Amino acid sequence: MNAIQTLKDEHQLILKVLHLLSRSRKELEKGGMMSTLFFEKAILFCSEFADRFHHFKEEFLLFGLLAHKKEGKLDSAMGALRYQHERCTQSVMAIRQVLEGYENRDEISITLILENIAIYVSLLSRHIYQEDHIFFPMVEKSLSPDESRALNEQFEKEELRSSKKGAVFQRNLMLADELSQLFHLR
Ligand SMILES: [Fe+2]
Ligand SMILES: [Fe+2]
Repeated sequence: MNAIQTLKDEHQLILKVLHLLSRSRKELEKGGMMSTLFFEKAILFCSEFADRFHHFKEEFLLFGLLAHKKEGKLDSAMGALRYQHERCTQSVMAIRQVLEGYENRDEISITLILENIAIYVSLLSRHIYQEDHIFFPMVEKSLSPDESRALNEQFEKEELRSSKKGAVFQRNLMLADELSQLFHLR
């Protein structure tokens, strides 16, 4: 397993859901409504897959290994990426908190959903672009063959650990498909 390639593949799935969220935002901007189920499933994907599965591996396996490498040059880049992860988590929590109000067509809840989708999509899109095009290439250059091997092994272990709880990637791939269907059924 190649750890960096695995993270890039996971980005592709996250980008699919970001695209659907972006379209749902446009729907709300035009005065339309999405089903509450669409947002419930989107929250499930964002918290289980993007946050607990993907961001966890980046922060605890990759950033952990990179801390203080290159005389700390990577530390500020990791600090910014970590801040963006946190900000995304907060947006998802904010959406979750107003879902009941949204279901009841409460205008402030709808506004908060709109606001937080905009933050989430915008931040995470830039974040993924930076990781794929700037941060990961920098990481690949800075790791020795032994460090790369150790990272790949840690990713394999994490994969085994999470697959005991049910294949996370497969389950979320299906969830992304369900979201796409729900978007078209709106
Ligand atoms: Fe990240
Ligand atoms: Fe990422």
